[in-house]
Amino acid sequence: LNIAVMISGSGSNLQSIIDAIEKNILKSEIKIVISNMEKAYGLVRAKKHGIDAVYLSKKDYSSLKEYEKELLEVFKNKKIDLIVLAGYLGIVPEEIIKYYKNKIVNIHPSLIPSFCGKGFYGINVHEKVLEYGVKVTGATTHFVDEGVDTGPIIIQEPLKIEEEITAEELQKRVLDIEHKILVETIRLIEDKRLEINGRKVLIRR
Ligand code: GRF
Repeated sequence: LNIAVMISGSGSNLQSIIDAIEKNILKSEIKIVISNMEKAYGLVRAKKHGIDAVYLSKKDYSSLKEYEKELLEVFKNKKIDLIVLAGYLGIVPEEIIKYYKNKIVNIHPSLIPSFCGKGFYGINVHEKVLEYGVKVTGATTHFVDEGVDTGPIIIQEPLKIEEEITAEELQKRVLDIEHKILVETIRLIEDKRLEINGRKVLIRR
């Protein structure tokens, strides 16, 4: 698969895809990394591995339409088959979601539909999890639809919270799960083992 990865921050999820490709666990190629934050360390990670990495932000365009056109242009030029939102805190324009239906994957650091949606990102997800006192959290990969963290779920992995821990420690443990299930998700798509039936995503054999 020709993959485009969209980021906003450190890019540890991006790094897990880069590592999996370099270890031949994944057969895909990252054709471009796009960040909507100029200083995102993920851009540095990409460049270190000779991967095209660009800063592209909606705010630099006169309209969402212009931004959307630019994104579509980039994805078409690079013959992108799969778009991965890896710690991407931004909007994906409507047209992109339609054009790349069930070809955009997101990773979220909770068991959707809990602790997700607008405002739930980064460390504050884990703060809310601890505040609520749930005994199980985890991470989710899902296809992106027009909502926020609402698309069909692909993989979820739980994490038990059995002792008093800080939000930082919880984030670290969940991040490890994210890295794992994101690579697994891409591999399932490479191997065409996902069957999408409305909201249901079935994993074949
Ligand atoms: C992390 O909070 C992660 O849980 C979420 O996005 C944030 C940054 O991830 N998916 P990354 O290190 O930039 O991949």
